[in-house]
Formats: sequence, C-alpha cells, structure tokens
Amino acid sequence: MQELSKQEAKKRIEKLKKEIEYHGRLYYVLDKPSISDAAYDSLRKELLALENQYPEFGGQNSPTQRVGGKPLEKFKKFAHKIPLLSLSDVFEEKEIYDWEKRIKKLLPPDLKIDYFIELKMDGLAVALFYKNGIFEKGATRGDGYIGEDVTQNLKTIRTIPLKLEGNFQGEVEIRGEVFMSKKVFEELNKEQIKKGEAAFANPRNAAAGSLRQLDSQITLGRKLNFFAYDITTDLGRKTHLETHKLIEKIGFPPNPYTQYCADISEIIKFQKYIGGLREKLPYEIDGVVARVNSNEIYNKLGTIGRAPRGSIAYKFPGLEAVTKIKDIIIQIGRTGRLTPVAVLEPVNVGGATVSRATLHNEDEIKRLDVRIGDTVVIKRAGDVIPDIVGVLKNLRTSKEKIFRMPNHCPLCHSPAYRKEGEVDFYCSNKNCYGQRWRGITHFVSKNAFDIVHLGPKIIDKLFSVGLIKDPADIFFLKKEDLEPLERFAEKSAENIIGAIDKSKKIDFSRFIYALGIRHTGEETAINLANYFGDLDNLTKAKLEDLEAIEDIGGVVAKSIFEWFQDKNNLELIKKFKKAGIEIIKPSKISQKLNGKTFVLTGTLTHFTRESAKEMIRKSGGNISSSVSLKTDFLVAGEASGSKLKNAKDLGVKIISEQEFLKMVQ
Ligand code: IVH
Repeated sequence: MQELSKQEAKKRIEKLKKEIEYHGRLYYVLDKPSISDAAYDSLRKELLALENQYPEFGGQNSPTQRVGGKPLEKFKKFAHKIPLLSLSDVFEEKEIYDWEKRIKKLLPPDLKIDYFIELKMDGLAVALFYKNGIFEKGATRGDGYIGEDVTQNLKTIRTIPLKLEGNFQGEVEIRGEVFMSKKVFEELNKEQIKKGEAAFANPRNAAAGSLRQLDSQITLGRKLNFFAYDITTDLGRKTHLETHKLIEKIGFPPNPYTQYCADISEIIKFQKYIGGLREKLPYEIDGVVARVNSNEIYNKLGTIGRAPRGSIAYKFPGLEAVTKIKDIIIQIGRTGRLTPVAVLEPVNVGGATVSRATLHNEDEIKRLDVRIGDTVVIKRAGDVIPDIVGVLKNLRTSKEKIFRMPNHCPLCHSPAYRKEGEVDFYCSNKNCYGQRWRGITHFVSKNAFDIVHLGPKIIDKLFSVGLIKDPADIFFLKKEDLEPLERFAEKSAENIIGAIDKSKKIDFSRFIYALGIRHTGEETAINLANYFGDLDNLTKAKLEDLEAIEDIGGVVAKSIFEWFQDKNNLELIKKFKKAGIEIIKPSKISQKLNGKTFVLTGTLTHFTRESAKEMIRKSGGNISSSVSLKTDFLVAGEASGSKLKNAKDLGVKIISEQEFLKMVQ
C-alpha cells in the first residue's frame, strides 16, 4: 500500500477497525457476511501491517486481537472436553516442505514420516457423541472450548447415523464438517429471494445459519450434509488411514477424495489434482488437509498455539483481495471499444500480483458507484484481468473522485460515442492509431500468426516511423528497414525477419482468428475454417450461409459478414495474397465423426481437453460448449456437473473417455 502520513494512518486504522468489526459481526454472529473470507482477510492484513507500523494506534480493542467467534445466546452452551483446535494455513509448495522440516527437527533423525490427506470441507466443525453406539449429543465448535448444543438439529442430517454399526461400549466422539452442497445452496437462495429474505453469501454461511436454527423443522428443510474426519476416542488405531477406514465401517459416508501419501511430493500432487476438480465438486472446499499418518508421531508432535503441529491446511489461493484504486484509465480495443480500467495499488491475489482490474463499461461504474481513490474488493478468475466486485464505501475519505467516460478517444482524440442500445463507447475514427496497434498485437499473438519476436514495443516503433500501417505491411518488412532503428542489432533484425517468414505458412483457422473480426474467437474461427475450407469461399459467404453454421449465432454471423463486405478489408486480403501468405486448408484425417456434435464435461484423465477437441475436429466432428437438442454425444469425465444432468434430461447419449477413444481410433 501507498505510504500514508501518520495522521492518515491513524484515520485509516480507525476506519479499518470499524469495518472489520462490522464484517466480523455479520460473519460470526449473524451468519450473513457481505464480503468473501479472502477480502476480509485482506482487510485484516492491511490493518495488521498498519498496527505494526504504528503500534500506538492498535491496542486491545482492535479486531486483530480477537480469535474465532462467540456462541449465540440462544442455544445451550456445550463445553468441549477436548478442545476443537484450528489448523495453520499454507498456500505454497515451499511452505509445505518447510512444515515437514519443522516437524522433522522435533523427531528422531531417521524416523520415516508418511502422510494422509483429505479435502478441507468448507462448512462448520461439529463434534458428535455416541453413548454405547447411540447418538446422544452434538455441538458446534464455537470458540473451540465452548460451543452450542445443536443435537436436535444434527439429527436431521441423513448422513449422521443415529446408531453406529458394530458394538460400542462407553463414549465415542466423532468430528467432522457439516456442509451444504452447492446445489442446495442455490435452491435455498432462490427461495430466500422469492420470500423477500436476504440471500446467503456462500454455502458455508448457509450451513452455519441452518444448523443454528431454534426450530429443527427449518434445519430439516435445509438438507445439510456431513463428512467425518476424525475420531478422538482411542479405539486402538495406529494411523489416520485406519481412522478413515473405521469412520466408513461404523456407518459414515466415505469422502471419495482421501489419499495416503508416502511423502510431501505426493501431497503436492494431490492438492494440484484436487485444485483441478474443485469447481466441479458438488460442494465447496478451500484446500486439503495434510496430516502425519502415524497417530503416535502426531500425538508426540503436540500443538503450537491453537493448532496441532502434525496437520496443516494446504489451501487454494484466495481469489479475492482488497486494494485501492489509484486511477481509472481508458483502454482502446482493436474494434475501437473504449474500456475503463482501474489502476490499482499492486496486491497479491491468489499468488499473482495484480495492478489492473477491468471496470467493463459506464453502466458497471455507475452500478458499483466506484470512484478514484476508493478501497475495493477485487476478484480474479483464471488468467483473465480481475473484476471489481464491491466498493467498501465506509472507508471513503471524501477525497474520492467520480469518473466519467470521455467523449473523445484518448489516443486519436476523435469523438467517442455510446452505441445505441449498447453499454459500450467507441472511437469514431476507423483509422485510429490505438485500434490499429491493438489489431496488430492481436494479429501477431500466440494463437494467431505467432510472431513472438514482434512485441508491443517494437510494433509501436514500427508504427511511429511509418513502416507498418496494417498487418499485411509486416510481411513486406526487410532486414535493412529494421537495422537503422534505435536498439536494433543486426542479429535481432535477422531474427524478426526470420520469424515473419516462418509465420507465412498458416492454418486457415489461425488466419481467420488473426483478422480480429469482432465476436470471432478461436472456436468460431475453427468452425468457419472447417465449414468453408478456404478463404475464397469464406469471403463470398452469404449471411444465410454463416447463420446456418452450428454454434454461430445471428450477431456473430452479421459481424463476420460485414467484415467481408468492407472494401478496406478486401484490400487487406489482396495484400496478404501478394505478400505470399500460404493458407493451409483444414485437414480431416477421417470422416468418422462427420457432422456429429460433441460436448466435453468433467475432468478428463486420459488426455487434455485441447487434444480431445483436436481429435474430434480431425475426425470431422463439431464441438459445442453447451448441451442442447443438437448435441449428439456428451463425453463425461470425472466430477461432471450440470452438463451431465442436462444431457440426461434431454436424452443425449453420454459416453465415457474410453468409449470416446474407441470412436476416434
Ligand atoms: S482436521 C485441529 N480435516 O478446518 C483441527 N479439519 O482450520 C483438526 N475442516 O475447524 C481439523 N475439513 O472445520 C480437518 N478434512 C478436514 C477438514 C477440516 C474441514 C475444517 C474444520 C476445522 C478447520 C480448521
């Protein structure tokens, strides 16, 4: 964060304290958080850093001094004989190796340690007590020592057996996580909204809110679920693996994703594998829990603070964080669209440093009421530029500035206008430098002409000296043109010309993608290439022809059609031909899947999604991203979700990876 003056820091600390207390209450006491855990953690982190810098403004009343939640007043209190501890978190591979180093230091040097690993369910911890095999009592974790007696409500959960299988004398304590599936959560929220009540922020809070209901009938309707992860009673087990086997034997449903790990590298492998499945699992998890497998070693390691040394939460990176907006700038796209982008105080989100977030358009800025100087919650999904999901308005200082979309293109200064019926602004100048520059960077990008040597800075230079005006000019460049330019050694000029020459032979689909036609991504380009076979056919295509292609909708068809009607574009195509661009026609190795449409879902274990798509295309088949009546086959990998259900509902043929392989081989 930017350096603050002492006075500013004091003010910020006060505001942060209030804000964190407020969100803490929403979360811990009312089960109704309004921001994500990651965003909340990020706020706490900022406060902690400021308190470390200015300890005089911290103090006992700071939320950073608090641990856990306090029990609600309405339930009977329950004192845990064995406290429910928490786990230390790690996020990085290195940290998990460090964990092993730390525990090894406390143990005899040659002792072999193995591990057990399971999912870290995102729900709430409960302890269940069975007397002579019969379920007697159950309580929430609370602050670890005092929880709430929620016995009646736990009895509504079908996956908690009321009687254990086998013969048991005395008390047995089982621990595990109560959670709500993603599907039940979605249905519940729909209902809540219909009834005019507030929606739950996430399945964990919905589960917590549902378990802490005074009326068990309400809990029953919330369809909660349970996974057991430990038995605290000594029943003679030697390892955690045995504990899990016993959990299953006495009547609890086994979690399908548990694994014995001989060493740390296997833990890392498992965590990565689970990371890939995460989205598709029917419930939410926030990482995996690794534990020393041997109970003897685990017990010997003891605890540190409030966490056992022998287990650790190896979490997935939080995808949200809190930071400040330094500025809002306008980026111009290759289609002339002006996109407002927030320039951020750099912040780490899920392992990557982020300094920009998209604000999409004018309406989004108004909806969020986001201003320059605001503290915002940002969210990253995959590799795309992050979104701003909320503004923490309580942290405003009244120095924030309102942003308005410009009425001129920031690059060529021609008028900019908002298109009728659309949310976006466009530059009115077809020859706008910014648009052309973007168009060329797209043209040479990895999935288009793949001329890696031609980076954005070089393109900028070539533009400014007038060597290129459109993408076809690239192919007329000579070594002698480049050498005189500043910072161009003979060698690098040679490399660039070599890379350009090599790129002249190009797959038809890549060529189409490189043109940068609006709404024409890679998948559409591949469909077009397969359908038309060569550039002349595509150039002459009528609107009806385009509309007839599977997966190409009206808007996309119109955009492609219009592109090929534009005289300047036809000139450009002529110029490509003159430059000696050689387009490779799409090859169909076989006609086995001719005309058949496939949808892929779930995690494929035998090949990547890309190679599966390639196999389908090469055999003459089509790929669609969603299941419809036009789908012929759904290839269902592991942990398939809604697509599988849709396919079943529509009667689409569902095939396994093996069956798919047989079809293409
Ligand atoms: S073991 C010493 N195993 O994570 C605590 N915990 O951060 C031992 N959790 O309060 C807990 N899935 O609510 C363990 N497979 C799992 C878990 C799990 C979720 C939760 C649990 C605990 C918190 C600790």
